[in-house]
Amino acid sequence: MDHKIDSADDWALLAWQVEMGADEAIGDVPLNRFDEVAEHKPARAAPSGDVSVSVTKDAPALPDSGALAAACQDLDQLRAAIERFEGCDLKHGARNTVFADGNPAARVMVIGEAPGREEDIEGRPFVGRSGQLLDRIFGSIGLSRSAEDEKAAVYITNLLPWRPPNNRDPEREEIVMLKPFLMRHIELIAPEFLVLVGNHSTKTLLETTVGITRMRGQWGEVMGIPALPIFHPAALLRDSTKKRPTWADMLSLRRRLEDG
Ligand code: URA
Repeated sequence: MDHKIDSADDWALLAWQVEMGADEAIGDVPLNRFDEVAEHKPARAAPSGDVSVSVTKDAPALPDSGALAAACQDLDQLRAAIERFEGCDLKHGARNTVFADGNPAARVMVIGEAPGREEDIEGRPFVGRSGQLLDRIFGSIGLSRSAEDEKAAVYITNLLPWRPPNNRDPEREEIVMLKPFLMRHIELIAPEFLVLVGNHSTKTLLETTVGITRMRGQWGEVMGIPALPIFHPAALLRDSTKKRPTWADMLSLRRRLEDG
């Protein structure tokens, strides 16, 4: 359909869509999402794990993310298993699978939330504005994702490997389905320390309902690995009073690294 935007109503509709967060066209040809849903809609089967989700009777069962993740013996296999995974609808709206960045031998593994627009385009985590701030935050204690020396390196991944539409929050069902891949990722990296960036990775990995404002700076454990929740850099960009506590959290991480 060749439709020109020429009336005031068209402009108002476009402005409203931008206001609602639909700020980019991801294809040249319009897609009928309703047909797509009818074709692809997978059953919401629970992956092997702790949460049960009801299964639609006639629909095919979802691939079992728990079994697929457990079978991965190295990072290449894990990346390939995630790229092949067809159980999560987010994949169909994303340009790239965002797996990880940094040095896999790093002592510190950082877990963010989900790719945003820039990360989706580039296929690497934390490359947009908040990623640049995250690099500066770790740089303040001498850590960097590009360091070859494992003592100065960080390795970065996210809770979800695909961008949620319009950067909406991850849904519980998505997190539950994809968590086995993340847990296997942590096992394969086997870092000395985890840094949990923001509310979602903190709540998911520390299995708490307590929000990041109270959790930040409080060391917990994930599969026996000491884990430090910190504010998301996007929150620091919105509220500069969060910078000081984040600096305190970095000093806490630095002390652990020096002691360890
Ligand atoms: N925010 C995140 O949590 N992760 C990214 O990769 C980018 C922004």
